[in-house]
Amino acid sequence: MARLGLGAGEFRPFSVRGVAVISDHSVAAAPSPVQIAVLESVAPHMRHNPYGSYETLRVAGPFVPGPHDTHLVTRHSEAQAIMQDPRWSHAEEPDLLHGDSDVELPGSFLWMEPPEHTRLRGLVSKAFTARTVSGMRDYAERLVGELLDKALAQGEVDLLDALAYPLPLSMICDLLGVPAEAHEHVRSMSTGIARGLDPDVLLSPEELAARTTAVNDFLEFFGDLVDQRRKAPRPDLITALVQAEDAGARLTRTELLGTLLILVVAGHETTVNLIGNGVLALIRNPEEFARLGAFPELSEPAVDEVLRYDAPVHLTTRTAHADITVSGRTFAEGEAVIVLLASANRDPLAFPDADRFDIARYARGSRAERHLSFGLGLHYCLGAPLARLEMSAALRAIAGRVRSMTLLEEPPYRPNVVVRGMSQLRVRLEPR
Ligand code: HEM
Repeated sequence: MARLGLGAGEFRPFSVRGVAVISDHSVAAAPSPVQIAVLESVAPHMRHNPYGSYETLRVAGPFVPGPHDTHLVTRHSEAQAIMQDPRWSHAEEPDLLHGDSDVELPGSFLWMEPPEHTRLRGLVSKAFTARTVSGMRDYAERLVGELLDKALAQGEVDLLDALAYPLPLSMICDLLGVPAEAHEHVRSMSTGIARGLDPDVLLSPEELAARTTAVNDFLEFFGDLVDQRRKAPRPDLITALVQAEDAGARLTRTELLGTLLILVVAGHETTVNLIGNGVLALIRNPEEFARLGAFPELSEPAVDEVLRYDAPVHLTTRTAHADITVSGRTFAEGEAVIVLLASANRDPLAFPDADRFDIARYARGSRAERHLSFGLGLHYCLGAPLARLEMSAALRAIAGRVRSMTLLEEPPYRPNVVVRGMSQLRVRLEPR
């Protein structure tokens, strides 16, 4: 029996081809380093640094047998080919990851295929336009300024609580029209739901129960807001979505709530981690922090480098809707893959010096390969412009106002595998 050194209760049984995990600690046969890397790439206790496992997997090949007869897609070129090809569907993900669960996450167009996906995404895009987002720029800059000044006055803070959470939470809540006094309630519901995006097999019974509660609370809370806006419209996104529904009976109540769920959860849980990961990368790479201070215009390209270097969303899944050949390997219709976006982003075949954090990698005129952190193809992130706007405002403010940032302790990580991030980022800040 080989031991994997997993903490008791952290890891429930699942099988990787050739290795059956039969308890929290043991596997049925001595696993190879690649099999260990497969397990560790999704192990909650490895969240602080899954990149070593990703490297082992990439070296093993572009496709590595993964949990439950899936294949892990480890490299950039193959991940890009799959994400761009509409014959690979995202609709099976809820079944694939949450098939054993009693409670369903409300459907959203994130997990739909055309023509439903096209219709719903089109309706939401009308309400969530580039103009709506760019109109938030001044607000984002003011809010970042206020939050950062308060943090600087305190000196020692948890930067997640001080900046990374309140910025995207306030932005998405204000866009939607959620009253300020309910922002914290929204935060706690969506934290429970984001944890529940991980495969059910990785969740404890308590976490599964917390997800059920969070989903039910969410449906009740946002159901009430939808009713209120229907009676008394306001200039906000919920009203715009309600009216899109009323105009041609095109968004059902279920579709509306599913859309709100994905906007709220995707709209801030991910961006929180982007901001946190960015600050951590700057602290760990002081020469890049100094460079940002000297050239604040690098704030824009730095957003993409943080996305590439330490992606907030680590994986997604796709199921073949036809027999499809990728890089010489044919996947039969119905076969599923787990696309390791964060591994693809560190693929040395796509990115020179892939493990180096270089805030100018995406500077104008550079020919850097695109990262996959916002996905690609049909389901490319709808909120990418908002996330970019928030992160570049945060980086510009940090460049302008902060002289030094020191880590007060090694940051602990949440157990989340899909939306990965820290649970705390305690730092000491000094103003310029
Ligand atoms: C750093 C921040 C963000 C990251 C890393 C991120 C990442 C992603 C990724 C990887 C996907 C594609 C998933 C797949 O194809 O399997 C996606 C889709 C999506 N994201 Fe984001 N996201 C971020 C911020 C946001 C924000 C701020 C919003 C909205 C306010 C948002 C809304 C959505 C929606 C609605 C989809 C589904 C699009 C579709 O299925 O057509 N995201 N996001």
